[in-house]
Amino acid sequence: MSGDTITIPTASDFHIHLRQDAMMRMIVPRIAEGGVSLVYVMPNLKPPITRTEQALTYKAQLEKLAPNVTFLMTLYLSPELTPEEVRRAKQAGIPSTKSDGKLRSLDSHHLACSGVKSYPRGVTTNSDSGIESYEVYYPVFKTMEEEGLVLNLHGEIPSDDEKDICVMNAEERFLPHLAQLHANFPNLKIVLEHATSKAAVDMVKSLGDTVACTITIHHLQLIVDDWAGQAHHFCKPVAKYPHDRQALREVVAEGHPRFFLGTDSAPHPRTTKETAHAHAGVFTTPLVLPYLATILESFGALDRLQGFACEFGKRFYGVMERDRGKTEIVRLARESWVVPERYHFHIEGESEAGTGVETESVVPFWAERKIAWKIVE
Ligand code: NCD
Ligand code: DOR
Ligand code: ZN
Ligand code: ZN
Repeated sequence: MSGDTITIPTASDFHIHLRQDAMMRMIVPRIAEGGVSLVYVMPNLKPPITRTEQALTYKAQLEKLAPNVTFLMTLYLSPELTPEEVRRAKQAGIPSTKSDGKLRSLDSHHLACSGVKSYPRGVTTNSDSGIESYEVYYPVFKTMEEEGLVLNLHGEIPSDDEKDICVMNAEERFLPHLAQLHANFPNLKIVLEHATSKAAVDMVKSLGDTVACTITIHHLQLIVDDWAGQAHHFCKPVAKYPHDRQALREVVAEGHPRFFLGTDSAPHPRTTKETAHAHAGVFTTPLVLPYLATILESFGALDRLQGFACEFGKRFYGVMERDRGKTEIVRLARESWVVPERYHFHIEGESEAGTGVETESVVPFWAERKIAWKIVE
């Protein structure tokens, strides 16, 4: 790295929403634009991905749209997910981390699903079929621990007036569940997704090496004032206090290897954001490395870009050399430019009036704002 250019390997995004249909066709080709070559794909589709076969069908669609990207797939934790299904996923070829602690290659060509995502019921997009209590899933977790699948936790509990739980403390109140799961399944790899609070950072740091944490781009930048009244900054979990953002920045600046990039890029059509009841999600996929370089530099952590975005996640997941076939080099240059206002896509539909094409769009994070770094050839 010199003062005005950065040369690093392509990044990995360990938490992304790639959607379906026209939206998917617009987003997936943009993964590479952001300097990313490996993504860990969330299963909250309509209907959610609960079976290995569905994951494989979805993966094939994604690979067709971006043949140079490695897609690691996940299943949605629900009563449909049985120990048998976990083993089936494994038999379909899911080499990953074994409970003997040795890393096995996540060879993308032979891999069906690498993990299982749990959503508490109703707290975020398409999570109506999420979980209510973990204990019923203990047989599933036991099998995952044996088979080496990763458990990805959306760490919030549902709001509850009587218990004084709301979006500001929903993550902190979730943390005892994380500690309990780790205590009961010490060899199960668990990732607390999209951490937003100092309490979460402290908790993950205090747990063993099988527990890690993803951090988004936007949570390194936003606090509650930035989303209250600004729909494009509204996401789940919501951004919190200045001291929470500070804790996220510090753990990144420290280069802690169990904290790595998972953008939670979650596009919604503009019309469902700019409305009285905005959907939760921030869209960052097309500019992942430019945003990150700009934000890390703002708090003096640009030297951590490579570890945070390219190395630590792969190391935790055990993505080994064979998967690096798709890794290339990205060059960033210090060059001020403006984030696009929108990304358009076209929905072909049939209505009573006949067949029509409707143009929709997604507004990216920091739309029309200046950004300090650009990916160059
Ligand atoms: C859902 C929708 O469109 O209704 N969003 C999505 O993009 N999958 C649900 C939601 O946002 O609440
Ligand atoms: O803001 C969010 N949007 N958080 C989530 O957990 C889900 C996501 C989505 O799918 O829209
Ligand atoms: Zn989530
Ligand atoms: Zn998410």
